[in-house]
Amino acid sequence: MKKVLVTGAVGQIGSDLTIALRQKYGETSVVASDIRMPTDISLRDGGPFEFVDCLDPHHITRVMQMHQVDTIFHLAAILSAVGESKPTQAWQLNMNGLYNLLEAARQYGCSLFFPSSIGAFGPSTPKDNTPQETLQRPDTMYGVTKVAGELLCDYYHKRFELDTRGLRFPGLISYETEPGGGTTDYAVEIFIEALRHGQYTCYLREDTSLDMMYMPDAIRAMMELMEADPDKLKHRNAFNVTAMNFTPEKLAAEIKKHIPDFKIDYSVDPARQAIADSWPNYMDDSAARQEWGWKPEFLIEVMTGDMLDKLSGRIGRPQEQKTR
Ligand code: SER
Repeated sequence: MKKVLVTGAVGQIGSDLTIALRQKYGETSVVASDIRMPTDISLRDGGPFEFVDCLDPHHITRVMQMHQVDTIFHLAAILSAVGESKPTQAWQLNMNGLYNLLEAARQYGCSLFFPSSIGAFGPSTPKDNTPQETLQRPDTMYGVTKVAGELLCDYYHKRFELDTRGLRFPGLISYETEPGGGTTDYAVEIFIEALRHGQYTCYLREDTSLDMMYMPDAIRAMMELMEADPDKLKHRNAFNVTAMNFTPEKLAAEIKKHIPDFKIDYSVDPARQAIADSWPNYMDDSAARQEWGWKPEFLIEVMTGDMLDKLSGRIGRPQEQKTR
């Protein structure tokens, strides 16, 4: 990776990834891009930033040529819950955006990272220990675009020898930038509400089991996969990866260890519950472990303590807020 382009750099993954890539490869080696201006100063001023609309192929190629990009992390996408309320936009951005980036990568001989998801699975997928290779018949527009995206990336690898690689991410938990419009967002909201109000009303049922990952692990996974020896990769698009697995009830119990008065109740949103119910309870990520050495560092206990520490620096703790 000599010159990297990150699309969707202002989003939940992109904001953390851009900063981590700049720390590793140098500030000028990472071009952040989005259709939104970053509000975070380190993201905006810490290296080059370009407005790039992934639906405009000329725009993409101009930026790639200008900065001589050789690696792309294509993160601009619409998540699952918003995708169900705006299926046309989800198809356009998630599919046409990816196609434009793949074509640009082909033209300039770039490597490309594509984030797939647990959303690429559906109700007929085995729910427990979901295998690397299995039935993928999702029933959300988000899931349809993720399966089609995986296939398209594999097609470009086979047909044009393009270096495409991807991960099937679980729900991602981060403190820098909140997710927007996903089904797993509760696992971030719960921390913010616990600190602000000591209470959270969860839109998923208490026993909804989903895979999750703390953002530092997700960032490391992307960077390690893109640096992995290509000869060792039997799979490409996309590897199952997970770090922990919990229900809202279990996460609430973990938060209570730090904030004993924290209370959770439930007001189930049928749309998001249906999406969560169609996804795996937990995935088998042994292919990632074997082929490029994937190993998570953050489990629920350490992640919870770290999230509360980081967020309370900004929000404060419930008892501190009462005395303000
Ligand atoms: N976190 C995503 C969502 O909930 C799943 O990949 O949409």
